[in-house]
This record gives sequence, structure tokens and C-alpha cells, in this order.
Amino acid sequence: MSKTNPILLAPSLLAGDHANLISSVRQAEEAGATWLHLDIMDGHFVPNLTFGPQTAAALRPHTELFFDTHLMLDNPADYIEPFAKAGAGLISIHVEPDHPVKKVLADIRHLGCRNGIALNPGTPVDQLEPYLDQVDLVLVMTVQPGFGGQSFREDTLPKIKQVRRWREDRGLDFRIEVDGGVNLETGLRCTEAGADTLVAGTSFFHAEDRAAFVRSLQNPPA
Ligand code: DX5
Ligand code: ZN
Repeated sequence: MSKTNPILLAPSLLAGDHANLISSVRQAEEAGATWLHLDIMDGHFVPNLTFGPQTAAALRPHTELFFDTHLMLDNPADYIEPFAKAGAGLISIHVEPDHPVKKVLADIRHLGCRNGIALNPGTPVDQLEPYLDQVDLVLVMTVQPGFGGQSFREDTLPKIKQVRRWREDRGLDFRIEVDGGVNLETGLRCTEAGADTLVAGTSFFHAEDRAAFVRSLQNPPA
């Protein structure tokens, strides 16, 4: 039986103030978060652009938050080293692009980071199976990646449950992360389904009481 990971809420900087990212980092810290989710988009794998390793490196000396770096890139292999040098704690790559996934996952660890494998809502969950024993985190996307503020996709819940079953059956202990449309209600359903790492952008930064938001999702009713 796998050990249970404590539930973590990772605010997504995508929904922060891009004219003053430090103020958004402080809001995450003050709310009690320990992880910060960085969404890296290339305009190819997803139809949007965000920021690069230079921004992550510029933020790094200003915070102790763990940088949970989500690469939405066609060629993640080219960027894992720059993000590792920029202070990423974990780097997730997607399973969908045509690239040597196993090698890139191993390279992320060699660079001293934890690794993660991410899956889009339209991709069959079976595609994760070959990588489960070599990852620190599985990221089940709960919206089509590219933009914040979308609605949670119900059809992703069975995938979360399947990933949890695999983890239990194989005695593994990777984290199960969900990303997109997570709020107090959908986040609770994700943790019930087996998620232990919740990314929240819009709902976190718009919460009236961010600390209560984090507390509530990190401590679901038994
Ligand atoms: C979407 C990103 C998400 C995004 C989630 O492509 O991967 O991390 O920030 O935003 P919300 O929480 O607003 O759905
Ligand atoms: Zn993300």
C-alpha cells in the first residue's frame, strides 16, 4: 500500500499580476502555500505564451516557494536545463509531443529536479502507464491547457481514479496533480478521486480569503 501524500495547493502564477509578479508570490506565501505553479507555454503546443526561465530565475531569490514548473512545449528537452538552473524544484513535461519522454524524465532528475508527466484531457490515460515507475508526479490536466479561467472537465475524474489505482497496485508514491478549473468544490472532488496536489489560478487569486481557501483544500473533511 502506498503512503498517503499530504495535500498541497499550488497557486498558479498565470492568474497573478504579470505587472507585479512579486506581489502575487507574496499572496501565495501569505496564504500558506508552499508550492508555486509556473505555466510555461510556447505558442505551439498550446496557443498562448507566458514567460521563460529568465522570469523564473528573477523570482527565485525572492521566495522559498517550491517552483512546480509545467512545461507546455513541443520541445521540452531544450528547456529543462535552463529551468533547472533557474531554480525549478519540479519540472513536468507532457506525454503528447513527439519526444523521447523516458530520456527527458531521466534527464530532469539528473539535473537535480523532481520530474512529472502531464496528460491532456483528450489523451487516453493508458499513455501514462509506461512512465509511472519513473516519475515523482503525474499531472492530470482537468482543462485543455493554454488558458486560465476555464471550467473543470468532469470527464477527467475517472483518469484521476485510474492513476490512483495504478499507484496503489504498484506500490508507488508519486504525487497526483490536477490543473485547471480547480475551486473549493471541484478541488474536493479531485482529492476524493485521489489527487493530492491541486493547482489553482483564478479561484486562488480571486478568493476573498486566500488563506482559508488553501486551508480548506489542504484539509478536506475526512
Ligand atoms: C492551464 C494551466 C493552468 C492554469 C490554471 O493551461 O496549465 O495551470 O493556470 O488556471 P485556472 O486555475 O484558472 O483554471
Ligand atoms: Zn499548469
